Amino acid sequence: MPDDALVEIKDLRVHYRTTQGDVPAVDGVDLTVRRGEILGIAGESGSGKSTLAVALLRLLRAPGYVAGGSIDFHPSGQPSVDLLAMDERRLRSLRWRSLSYLPQGSMNSMNPVMRVGEQFRDVILEHAPERRNQLATMVPRLLRQVGLDEGVVRMYPHELSGGMKQRVLMAMSIALEPDLVVADEPTTALDVTIQRVILQSLGDLRDEFGVTLVVISHDMGVHAQLVDRVAVMYEGKVVEVGDVRQVFKQPRHPYTRSLIESIPRIGEAPWRDEKRSPVA
Ligand SMILES: Nc1ncnc2c1ncn2[C@@H]1O[C@H](COP(=O)(O)OP(=O)(O)O)[C@@H](O)[C@H]1O
Ligand SMILES: [Mg+2]
Repeated sequence: MPDDALVEIKDLRVHYRTTQGDVPAVDGVDLTVRRGEILGIAGESGSGKSTLAVALLRLLRAPGYVAGGSIDFHPSGQPSVDLLAMDERRLRSLRWRSLSYLPQGSMNSMNPVMRVGEQFRDVILEHAPERRNQLATMVPRLLRQVGLDEGVVRMYPHELSGGMKQRVLMAMSIALEPDLVVADEPTTALDVTIQRVILQSLGDLRDEFGVTLVVISHDMGVHAQLVDRVAVMYEGKVVEVGDVRQVFKQPRHPYTRSLIESIPRIGEAPWRDEKRSPVA
């Protein structure tokens, strides 16, 4: 394996059984996530991005099934595993602690009758009960880390804006210091100003906590602003993957070109203004 590989996806095939027969939603994907990078997954709606994410997190539900391939995960300080082959118990021990997930639309899935602090408590006690005594200091710290006031601990989801909810979920996703966070459309449905703040906070997670991030978005503008490398999906296949600047400068696939052209242009490509330089 390459030294810096955190996840190696090999020839992954995920199908959905439908009345019209099997639909290949992920169709032979090879993709490596490097330790410490922000990898973007781009592609229009229906190209297979979310299916790739749920397969990677082993959260795929019927009628979806894995038709082939392997996903080798190399968590720090633990033996490597094939996520697709491992048993449920071992998988449970990796969730949140090594592998964390911000599902598409997760802002709307927060429990409406529980205060933010209680939602943290539930996750932490279930996955890391040994941290019970740290809860009182840990949760306010995590909230501050994503730029929220610690008073948010006592608030209910309906008292939070969409951007605040997304930041609460980001804080929760890094609570147990995972190696990898997969965020599916983390800025979709937020207004443009808030999107920028969320992208900044996601970048901070990598820069300050060393988390590796996979960020899925249909919006090439998001990739331009945030990611180091981008993989472009089209009809279940990765048609192009590379350094984001390179892909924007010289897209090799015509489909990538059309995705880039669909970004509303206000002056130059947004990444030209970024001070933060991507990891090599
Ligand atoms: N539960 C399902 N049953 C049948 N087909 C599905 C199901 N979920 C997704 N698909 C199909 O799989 C393909 C990829 O979907 P998805 O992974 O959600 O794409 P994306 O996240 O890029 O929008 C689409 O053709 C979609 O219609
Ligand atoms: Mg999706």
